[in-house]
Amino acid sequence: MTTPINLIAWSGSIRAESVNTQLLDRALALVGSHDGVTVDRVNLADFEMPLYNQDLQEASDELPEVVTQLGDRITAADAVLIASPEYNGGYSPLFKNVIDWVTRINMFLFANKYMGVLVTTPGSMGGVRGGAQMAQLFENMFLPVHQPPFSLGKFYEAIAEESIEGLDDWVAAYVAGARANAEKVAAEAAAKAEGEEASS
Ligand SMILES: Cc1cc2nc3c(=O)[nH]c(=O)nc-3n(C[C@H](O)[C@H](O)[C@H](O)COP(=O)(O)O)c2cc1C
Repeated sequence: MTTPINLIAWSGSIRAESVNTQLLDRALALVGSHDGVTVDRVNLADFEMPLYNQDLQEASDELPEVVTQLGDRITAADAVLIASPEYNGGYSPLFKNVIDWVTRINMFLFANKYMGVLVTTPGSMGGVRGGAQMAQLFENMFLPVHQPPFSLGKFYEAIAEESIEGLDDWVAAYVAGARANAEKVAAEAAAKAEGEEASS
């Protein structure tokens, strides 16, 4: 039987015509052809967070509601798929700000979630450096990261085609990786529960 998985997805750009949001939409359309995958599509424009500042956080006993709301949705997911722009060879401030805020709920909020990164640029380089940096950030958090990130240069030429070269295979591999990871996490949790029951 196919193990069902929950995937949460967002774009690290809230620009109206964002090429990364368009790439995410194309990827999610392909995810839809795989059995047993439910997708929670988040629009970060609905979760507007101030620029993270520890003083701002500590000025209140509670985190902003949008932070905890997004955190609840992340907690419910087995896997995370993010398409996000490359800015000056790195990630976008929006991408990082969201990660910083939600990890204030719990620094292990993303634990065991299978991370996937996509990046695209109108130029020919495809945001390879930004994609690698985003993947590295998640690896620094000891998360399972699908490698390599999907990067796509010359977005406007690529999107004009019926299918984006390599995206179908990348999405299939990502979904398979996310499912295998969810099965491993469930098996480890079951073994732990069994061990605790035996020792009680
Ligand atoms: C601050 C800034 C830095 C950028 N740096 C890069 C870069 O390092 N490499 C690149 O290929 N494009 C770069 N670009 C161009 C972006 O790839 C382009 O604006 C893209 O459309 C942004 O993604 P979005 O459409 O999803 O918002 C940069 C754009 C901005 C605004």
